[in-house]
Amino acid sequence: MAQEIIVVHGNGTLAGEVQVSGAKNSALKLMAASILAGGECIIRNVPRISDIEVMAEVLEQLGARVERNNHEGRDEHTLTIDTSSVNSFETPYELVSKMRASISVLGPLIGRFGSALVAMPGGCQIGARKIDMHLKGLESLGVEFGIDHGYLKATTPHGLKAAHVVLDFPSVGATENMLMAAVVAEGVTTIENAAREPEIVDLANMLVEMGARIEDAGSSIIRVTGVPIGALHPCDHATVGDRIEAGTFLAGGALTGGPLTVRGIDPSYLRMAIMKLREMGCTVREGDDFVTVTREGDLRPVEIQTLPHPGFPTDLQAQFMLLAACAKGTSVITENVFENRFMFAAELARMGADIVIEDHHALVRGGCQLQGAPVSSTDLRAGAALVLAGIVAEGETRVHKISHIDRGYEDYVGKLRSLGAEASRELPYRNHRATIRVETEC
Ligand code: EPZ
Repeated sequence: MAQEIIVVHGNGTLAGEVQVSGAKNSALKLMAASILAGGECIIRNVPRISDIEVMAEVLEQLGARVERNNHEGRDEHTLTIDTSSVNSFETPYELVSKMRASISVLGPLIGRFGSALVAMPGGCQIGARKIDMHLKGLESLGVEFGIDHGYLKATTPHGLKAAHVVLDFPSVGATENMLMAAVVAEGVTTIENAAREPEIVDLANMLVEMGARIEDAGSSIIRVTGVPIGALHPCDHATVGDRIEAGTFLAGGALTGGPLTVRGIDPSYLRMAIMKLREMGCTVREGDDFVTVTREGDLRPVEIQTLPHPGFPTDLQAQFMLLAACAKGTSVITENVFENRFMFAAELARMGADIVIEDHHALVRGGCQLQGAPVSSTDLRAGAALVLAGIVAEGETRVHKISHIDRGYEDYVGKLRSLGAEASRELPYRNHRATIRVETEC
């Protein structure tokens, strides 16, 4: 079955209000954390995206029951996850290679069973995506690792013991895996140089609702006082809004002039992106759970350094490179988080953008009128940005490999159409041949 593509016509329109879905990069970890509860957790505001389906498969593979929109008629964004019957701690290669975030089950499996057998995740388009910091941190808690035919074999011969862990880099995934193991490690664990993303806070909040004892999540030093696994119980938790989806739509509003409002998001999650939108000449209004962007004059050039939160998010780098390509002047964007996250530039250049890449710097000469073209998504954020580019390009843009986009954006085309975009999902050509491609996802 040929993969669908997204076809966009450059009508220059993206205005109105859109409801943001729950955060992909939180919901996936909340689902993993439910392994520690040993009962029926309710997780609300879960986006309908393919990565969530893969994580559901991972949990079912472990013996859990995962239901969406279950017998009590909860809405389609609520998951009921019963992990009381989880009886395996093995996560197969086929699932880990589909989604590297599956590695998030490592910490909770070790916490619950003292063991885990998880396929080693591969790299992906944006980088090697190593897990050395995950392993080093967990080893500090007493975990012993071996490699068994491509699988990571974790054991805790002397149980989990608290430690003072210093991460080399504030890795989001490593911080999360550490948290989900440390909550049942004997004693008080300190995680120094911890990631500070809002999704870390969301995970810590759910773990506390389950009975864990965690202080100062969201700061770079998190303290965890271990409790027995039996003290952890199921909970009912709502996922925070997706700041990257919100930032993507705000970039779209900045591109077309808007006015565009994203609702269901805490504006404090987007401080740096909002600051950069203002620097580029936009007017940004913030409410309790919404942000509105408008622009009258030309987009101004900008300097951006992607950094761990609260720095500029790497997941908004492509979207702001698009803005820079349409700004009057030259911008510089430096990617400090991933080693290979400029592939979007090559696709945007096919639409007429003038971008020079030098190591991890991109020099973006703006002022171009983009032309519609056939392009390919290289990762989910680049794919989303290419669709936005099609809205302001002259003519038609056909975006391929949109399975990347479907991993992280719920009903992206539907939301764009509700904002006036002329976009649709189509089969690429009439007499399509069956082509099956399996790519390692980031
Ligand atoms: C999470 O990935 C997000 N994914 C990414 O979002 C996001 O870009 C990233 O955090 C940074 O904010 C999910 O939450 C599912 P890291 P993660 O560990 O946890 C290196 C998206 O578009 N590193 O903070 O994998 C790593 O290679 C995705 O939604 C090591 O070297 O990010 C990378 O260069 C893309 N060793 C950097 O650190 C390790 O042990 C940041 O990685 C761990 C990480």
